[in-house]
Amino acid sequence: MIALTDPDKGTRAYLAKALGSAVAISHHETVVDLEHALAMAPVAPAVAVFGPNVPLDDGLQTATWLQDRGTPTAAILIAHDLSAEVLHAAMRAGVRDVLPESHSADQLRDTVDRALGLASRVAGSTGTAPERLHSKIVTVFSTKGGSGKSVVASNLAMLLAEETGEEVVLVDLDLQSGDLAIMLQLTPAWTIYDAAENTSRLDLDALVGYLTPHRSGISLLAAPLEPALAETITGQTVQEILTLLTERFPYVIVDGPAVFSDQVIAALDVSHETVLMASLDVPSIKNLKLALQTFEQLGIGRDRTHVVLNRADSKVGLRLQEVEHALGTPIDVLIPSSRDVPLSVNQGQPLAIENRRSPVVASISKLAGRIRIPAHTGPKRGRRALLGRN
Ligand SMILES: Nc1ncnc2c1ncn2[C@@H]1O[C@H](COP(=O)(O)OP(=O)(O)O)[C@@H](O)[C@H]1O
Ligand SMILES: [Mg+2]
Repeated sequence: MIALTDPDKGTRAYLAKALGSAVAISHHETVVDLEHALAMAPVAPAVAVFGPNVPLDDGLQTATWLQDRGTPTAAILIAHDLSAEVLHAAMRAGVRDVLPESHSADQLRDTVDRALGLASRVAGSTGTAPERLHSKIVTVFSTKGGSGKSVVASNLAMLLAEETGEEVVLVDLDLQSGDLAIMLQLTPAWTIYDAAENTSRLDLDALVGYLTPHRSGISLLAAPLEPALAETITGQTVQEILTLLTERFPYVIVDGPAVFSDQVIAALDVSHETVLMASLDVPSIKNLKLALQTFEQLGIGRDRTHVVLNRADSKVGLRLQEVEHALGTPIDVLIPSSRDVPLSVNQGQPLAIENRRSPVVASISKLAGRIRIPAHTGPKRGRRALLGRN
């Protein structure tokens, strides 16, 4: 269903005609009409088109409202004035596409078709990966340092390996200050820098040679030993490395930096899913909200993002309901605050293998359950035993 809003009846008729008769179209004079209709409708329309006579602010506000409600409706704006400023405001409001008033019927149909295709893919996904997916790249991200990315990425990798029996690689993409090797008490002989240096002749075997095995059975592609080396690694190289890793590893877990670096944007671009982390404080929640918006702009929909709140039980006066309200989206996984975590980090003893009873492990295991590929039904005992002997 397409919801068409424009105060001018003639414009609506013209737009409806341009869209053809393949999809049902509902007509609305104003955004207030549209919002009322949507609030009552059992199923949200896949696409909402705002015609050129809808005041710009009205269109943008309703687009923001749609986004905040978490409806799968894609907003398309037809604008009188297609300035950079308008485009920018539209992006911020989560508008999928903006068309000039002088668009052709073909252009409009293409734009709507694209949005419809996307909507049906969103509606078709139930939050779990389709059966045919054999491997997954998952990037753990947050624009705030210390939010628990590395703790979650490393334990998530181990729990996925444990629970599926599949091979898992952990990639430290915090290129400036990655500390996964230290956290896991490993001394890597090679790092992602060496892999990046050799991309011209990089094949899977060579790449696997740069990994450091961990006693849990997972492998680590460590961050460069010197921060200055980070700059030499391009986004394209990162994509090549991650994609190559999926040929061997059903799960490629990427631990990100605390900024939208070129390299992490490249990684997000090839990631099937993301884990977006925040802790229970106002700046962190604000950062999470901005990151969600940036993800949308990068084409990573909310359906592909697992929102994780770390140290969720901290006594800081913020209620979960308030946080979800401020975010405009539910939190998917809550991880409690626990002394187990700093103890495990300082001793280099990952909770996932040393302290399975920790409530933090239970939460990260829930996250692993959301990420697990359905076809992976459980540990292959023979193989785990083999790994155990290594
Ligand atoms: N759930 C938790 N409870 C208590 N401490 C935590 C928790 N999660 C993370 N921490 C602490 O926060 C520190 C930062 O975590 P880390 O994973 O390194 O963050 P990031 O990678 O996002 O910078 C860790 O050293 C750990 O001790
Ligand atoms: Mg980290």
